[in-house]
Parts: sequence; C-alpha cells; structure tokens
Amino acid sequence: MGSGIARPRCDRTAAWAALQEHFDHVGRKLVLRDSFQRSPGRFEEFSQEAPRVFADLSKNLIDSQAQALLLELARECALESHRDAMFAGEAINVTEQRAVKHWLLREPVGASTDRDAAQVHATLDAMLAFAEQVRHDHAITDVVNIGIGGSDLGPQMAVAALDSFVMPGKRFHFVSNIDGHELAAVLELLRPESTLFLVASKTFTTLETMTNARSARAWFETRGGRDIARHFAALTTNVAAARDFGITTTFGFWDWVGGRYSLWSAIGLPVAIAIGASGFRALLAGAHEMDRHFATQPLERNLPVRLGLLDVWNRNFHGFASRSLAPYHSALRRLPAYLQQLEMESNGKRVDMDGQPLAHASAPVLWGEPGTNGQHAYFQMLHQGTDVIPVEFIAVRTPDHALAGHHELLLANALAQAQAMMQGKPDAGGHRDFPGNRPSTFFLLERLDPASLGALIALHEHRVFVSGSLWGVNSFDQWGVELGKVLALDIAPRLASGGVSGLDGSTAGLLRRLRA
Ligand code: F6P
Repeated sequence: MGSGIARPRCDRTAAWAALQEHFDHVGRKLVLRDSFQRSPGRFEEFSQEAPRVFADLSKNLIDSQAQALLLELARECALESHRDAMFAGEAINVTEQRAVKHWLLREPVGASTDRDAAQVHATLDAMLAFAEQVRHDHAITDVVNIGIGGSDLGPQMAVAALDSFVMPGKRFHFVSNIDGHELAAVLELLRPESTLFLVASKTFTTLETMTNARSARAWFETRGGRDIARHFAALTTNVAAARDFGITTTFGFWDWVGGRYSLWSAIGLPVAIAIGASGFRALLAGAHEMDRHFATQPLERNLPVRLGLLDVWNRNFHGFASRSLAPYHSALRRLPAYLQQLEMESNGKRVDMDGQPLAHASAPVLWGEPGTNGQHAYFQMLHQGTDVIPVEFIAVRTPDHALAGHHELLLANALAQAQAMMQGKPDAGGHRDFPGNRPSTFFLLERLDPASLGALIALHEHRVFVSGSLWGVNSFDQWGVELGKVLALDIAPRLASGGVSGLDGSTAGLLRRLRA
C-alpha cells in the first residue's frame, strides 16, 4: 500500500485475528486491580523511558499477551519499513505525492545527507537572526501572529507552554478566527509603530488568514503606519503570493512540511522571538532526540510505537471512541487543542491508502483541559459515566514558581485522579459507587522547558504516525476540510443577495432569518 512498500492493512493480518480472539477471551475482562496484584512487575513492564519523557502505561486495560500480539501486528504491517521510508524522504504522502520531512527541520547541522538540509539550515539561521533582531528592537512591543490551524495552534501552544522562558517587554497575540471580534479586540491594544504582524500561512490563500491580514494592513495604513517591510513578515511556502500582498520580509518553508507539523519551520517564528534563538534550537534538539528514539529503538522499547499500539488496542478492540488529555500544568492549556488537530486531522480518515473504505475505526475524539480544572467540571463523567474514556495525565516534576505547597498538591491530585479511576470504590453503594477499572496513561517530564516540550510534541507526532500506519490511512493529507471551504464561498454572496436557489431547506431557512 502506497510508496512501494507492501503493507497489509491491519484488519487483514493474522495478528489482528489473534488480537480479536485474545480480546474476546481475556482482554475485555481485564481487571487492573487484579493485574497489579498478580504481577508485581507490572509497572516496570508497562512503563517506558524516552528522551525527556517518562510514560507509565500500566494503568491501561492491556496485558503482556495483548502487547506481544500488537508488536506482531506492527511487524506484519511493516511499520518499521514505513517509518524508515518517512526518514528516507520517500513520498509517503501518496495522495499529494509529497515526502513527509518535518523531522529534517530538527536535524542538527551537518547531520543529514538529505538534499534539502542545507536550505533548511540557511532558512533557520535567517529566521533566528530576524528573531534576535526583533528581540533587541525595543520599539516593537507587540507581535501579532495571524494564522489558523497548524499556522496558529503550534506557536500559540508553545509560547504559552514556555511562558517562564518568554522575554519580558513583548506581548504576543494570536489571531486565527475570521470572526472580526478577535482581530478587533487585539487591534484595540496596538499602535502601528510598535507592532510586528506575522502573516503565517503555508498556502497564503486561507480565507481566514488572508481576510485578517488584509484588515490588519488596512488598520496599519489608516493609523499612519508606513514601513510595511519592518512591520509585516510572511511565513509561507508561497513567497510569490506574499510579495503580491506587499510583504517583502518572508521566511519560507517547503511542501513536505504538513501544516500541523510546521511548528519547527518558519511557522515557529513567534516562538523564536519569545524564547530566543538558543531556546528555539533547544526545542528542535529535544524533538530530534525523540526522532532518534523513534527511528532506532526496538519496537518493544519504543515509546511512540507502544503508545500508537495502545491507541489501536483501545480504539479497535475496547472500542473507546474518545480520549481525554489532562495536562497538570496550566501553561499546557493549549496542548489539547494542538494535539486535537495533530491526531484528528491526521487520522480522522475513513478510507485506506487505496481509497477503499476502512472496515475498522480510526482516530478517536481527542479533547481536554488542564488539571485540576477538569476535575471540577467533567471528571464526574470520567469516573461514573456510562462510557469508558481513557485519560492521559501529563505532569511536570519541577515547577517554575516559588509558591509553597501548590506543586505538591497539583501532583497529588494528578496521581489521585489516576488512582481513583483505576481503583474505584465499587462497593460504596448506589450513587456513591465508583466502578473503577478506568484506564489512564501518565506522562512525566522533569521540567517544562524548550527541549522537553520539543520531545513531547515529537513523541505525539510519531505516535500518530504509528496508529495511522497500522490503520492504513494517509496521516498527511486533509481532504475533509475542502467541502466546507467551497460551500462557504458559495454562501457568502447569498448573504448579501438573498438568493436561496439550489439550497437545501434548512440552509435556505437560516439564511432568510439572518437577512430578516
Ligand atoms: O483547513 C485545514 C488547513 O489546511 C490545515 O491543515 C492547516 O494547518 C490550516 O488549514 C492553515 O493552512 P495555511 O497554513 O495554508 O493557511
């Protein structure tokens, strides 16, 4: 399937049938409390060290046999050849005939023989030099990133996550929505002479971004702003379109960087301005360490592989349709949204590489909020609801504040929630009954810094690669976003004209109400 490697679809392998059999007889009845009692080495068996990230998978509804069969599945599906094809720069994004090389953006200088390596480093050096120049330019107090999806979520998430490393004296704003309320509220805070607008768009055609960029330019000019070259920069693969727009300061990237994988490219410029060139290089270095781990570790000690296999087990055998993410660090507040795009846009597919309908489920719904806030909102359902939803906790050992007592209580809450989900309190009676046996994974970082954040994000990129590879989908296209874009362009003029011909009854009815 795809790019010349023979890869059978997961549901057509012997391991899949064996997994189904094992699930029917053992897996579905697995009781975590008993598993821990029976096997004192369970924590060691189901935990995994990786660069800058430790993960405890032992509180998942999985046993040694399922783990062994999942590894067999990975081998039958030629996961390793597929991974190696990505790292060899083959065109594994078959529907767009593109290579998938976001990992190249984090290769150290001189380490890669890839033909694009020199260009990557030249662009990185230029972008980081610009970032340093902006950092030292005290006249610039506000940096506004205008972009959406992968051109927004990554930098927005990372600037928030690395708050402790962000230089004082500059404010960062992220405008993504075409809803004018968002841009208008940001413009209220700005003056043209002290603002730098970054127009971030891989294609430089996205409706939301171009509309916001045009309005920002109009605001800049009507407020007396003069020097577009100094106050606007473009981050894009479409340098010609940026020039046509009137922007001459441009940092490029390449079609082999997917939008949701573009944080490491020029799209990361807001992060580089915020944390400096050395901080950005540390982010890349952390991600690169995880690339090496994924590329070289045997499957059974390979964290992205183990997570991706667990995702298949949970989704296709347990039938869990949703996964909740609970970062116990308030600076990771945008991580769920970031990972939501990464996972759902990559693996939210219903056909295989050959365009044939899948016979099995693919990406789950991914969602979440930082802990402890989620505990006081929706954790009720996680503990006692009718659906079982695996939860992923992310905790950080060393805090970046000096407030006594807070961090111990934060960590205690994360541990207690995971424990409560597993142990439950089954005999409390009626409404007080906690069934327990609810699965969770626990990630631990030493500290939240550029390198560990880089490693954590790369870990998730590769995990999504693994589950997508086994599901047999193309994780690197996103045709499902096209139809709505086309229809919006048809409907927009109808809001002015009132024309409803050819529209369905509901859309026509709503349009009439909007015009009344
Ligand atoms: O509509 C989806 C999408 O294409 C995402 O994949 C992408 O991250 C986002 O839009 C923004 O695209 P661009 O960077 O080209 O503006």
